[in-house]
Amino acid sequence: MKTNKIYNMDCLDGLKQMEDKSVDLVITDPFYVPKAQFKWKVFDDFYWKWNKKWLIEIKRIVKDDFHFFVSFSSDEMYLFEKLLREVGFEIRSRIVWNYRNSCKATAKETKFAKTYEFIFHCSSGKKINFPKKWDDRRFDVKVCAIPQSNFNEGKIHPYQKPLRLWEQLIEFCSDKGDVVLDPFMGGGTTAVACKKLGRNFIGFELEKDYYESALKRLSETPSHETLPIGNFATQKDLISVKEENQK
Ligand SMILES: C[S@@+](CC[C@H](N)C(=O)[O-])C[C@H]1O[C@@H](n2cnc3c(N)ncnc32)[C@H](O)[C@@H]1O
Repeated sequence: MKTNKIYNMDCLDGLKQMEDKSVDLVITDPFYVPKAQFKWKVFDDFYWKWNKKWLIEIKRIVKDDFHFFVSFSSDEMYLFEKLLREVGFEIRSRIVWNYRNSCKATAKETKFAKTYEFIFHCSSGKKINFPKKWDDRRFDVKVCAIPQSNFNEGKIHPYQKPLRLWEQLIEFCSDKGDVVLDPFMGGGTTAVACKKLGRNFIGFELEKDYYESALKRLSETPSHETLPIGNFATQKDLISVKEENQK
């Protein structure tokens, strides 16, 4: 498999073609089926067996020293954590991506609105490139309390992750020139972040429309445009920081 390429294919087929111990960092956001949609027990079984299959491939593909981030719905994170442990991953951190908008639909008469998603961080124990001086960026919840900024970034996928959140994790847990894998590319957030940060990426996306939108987004992304990491709320904030730096 070539680097700096998104493949329009089923990731299970793609992952099988990847060499053992060839990836430094995996960051991904698998497709999720809410419990309410598990109409048949058979599909429930299928979904968890399928998750196990791709996780086993990830275990084989990562280098001895690696980081692995996987985002999963807070509703069933307990099942996903069980699976990660079964496959043999050690969970180092549990990161909360806290968002405040688009929660309306989840607030019912019987429950509060859903405002967070879980990101499991597994690793071999590899060091994180934290800034030398202690600062807020070492606190998971605070660091990731970025509002759902998709709309400011130009949303091309319904489940697109905020670019700043992804960039922060990639910047802290890989080095320039490393190989970063995302088996579920969606709108290409991982590829865009890697291009900006000078990392090599490999990705898979099953749906042709998403694949094509991701390629377009990637082609519009300048390479190696490392911006200072921060707790930016909107694209406007990012631009003003950039301007500030250029003074
Ligand atoms: C939650 S979205 C990822 C969104 C992405 N993180 C972003 O920021 O745009 C999951 C994606 O996985 C894709 N997908 C589902 N099954 C797949 C498979 N077997 N192989 C590759 N991609 C798959 C879906 O089409 C969907 O675009």
